[in-house]
Parts: sequence; structure tokens; C-alpha cells
Amino acid sequence: HNTEIYANFANKKVSNMTKKGKHTVLFICLGNICRSPAAEIIFKKMVAEQGLEHLVESDSAGMIGYHRGCPPDSRMLTALKKYGYEDPGLKARPVRKEDLEQFDLIVGMDRENLRDLKRLDEKGQWTGKIVPMCFFTTRFPDEEVPDPYYGGPDGFEHLVKLLQDGCGNLLERLKEQLSL
Ligand code: 4NP
Repeated sequence: HNTEIYANFANKKVSNMTKKGKHTVLFICLGNICRSPAAEIIFKKMVAEQGLEHLVESDSAGMIGYHRGCPPDSRMLTALKKYGYEDPGLKARPVRKEDLEQFDLIVGMDRENLRDLKRLDEKGQWTGKIVPMCFFTTRFPDEEVPDPYYGGPDGFEHLVKLLQDGCGNLLERLKEQLSL
């Protein structure tokens, strides 16, 4: 990606091991019922398959609290299931200011999420942790992870493939930088 939103990330390091001795990743979308829980499910499966659960931890949250306590959207779960992913019982929650401090990397799905995250980071303390999901994608031209909420099933399947691409590359980057 060569556009302005990626310019700042060209040489970005994504590792920065926490106090807990784990690298922690927070996926962010608007509602926390479609894109970010899907990213969490896909990423966690990759982490588990590679035996890295003791080193890499992830969670997801939404910019809005409207769906607080809700499971992921059933259309999202249908698409995930088709690609072999099961929901472990995720429940939506809104992002908290403390998340910015507590997570090592905060991955926003679209420009609006990134803008809102930067707004939440009032003092600009955590900008170095905030990165767009499509910074990691290589097999798709998308510059944002499109919101599938008002579209059809194709959008949800595209989302799974896009997130598989991005999450896989994100994990590779982490492994390189953590020397795994
Ligand atoms: P998400 O999708 O941000 O990927 O979870 C959406 C979910 C809900 C709404 C918008 C997008 N909504 O407007 O309620």
C-alpha cells in the first residue's frame, strides 16, 4: 500500500513485549460484532496452531458500546464456520482508555476507527501502537477492512480471507521481531 495512511508505518516495529512477558494485540472495529471479533478468532487460532499462546495474547473491542455483551453477528459466525473457525463465546465490549496503555499493539480496521482511536488517545501518548489492519495485508488491494454490516454474505466471506491474510502476516512480523 502506497497511500498516505500507510506512509507512517513503512518501518514500523510491531513488537514491544509487555510487563506480562506476553505480546498483546487488541483488534478494533466499530461495533465489535463483525470485523474485530473475527480477527480475534482467526488470529487466536493461528497463535494456538503455532504453539505461541504463552507469548501472544489478543482481544477485541468496538469504538461504540451499542452491542455491549452481544455475541458476534450470526452472519459473521456463518462465514467463519465455513472456513473452519469456531466462536469461543466472545462478547462485545467498547474500547476503554486503559486499553491504549495496556495493549502493545492496537489494530484498527478502517480509517474511521483509526481517527477515533487517535481521538481517544487525547495526549497522543500511544500513537506508536495504533496501526491499520491493512498495513499487514498483502494479497488484497483493500486499504481498509470494509464494514460488512449492511451488505450481503459475500462481504463476510471476503472479510474472513482478508483477515486471514492480515493476521497471518501480523503474526509473522511479531515472530520475527520477538526472534521466534
Ligand atoms: P463491526 O460491524 O464494526 O465490524 O462490528 C458493525 C457492527 C454494528 C454496526 C456497524 C458496524 N452498527 O452500526 O450497529
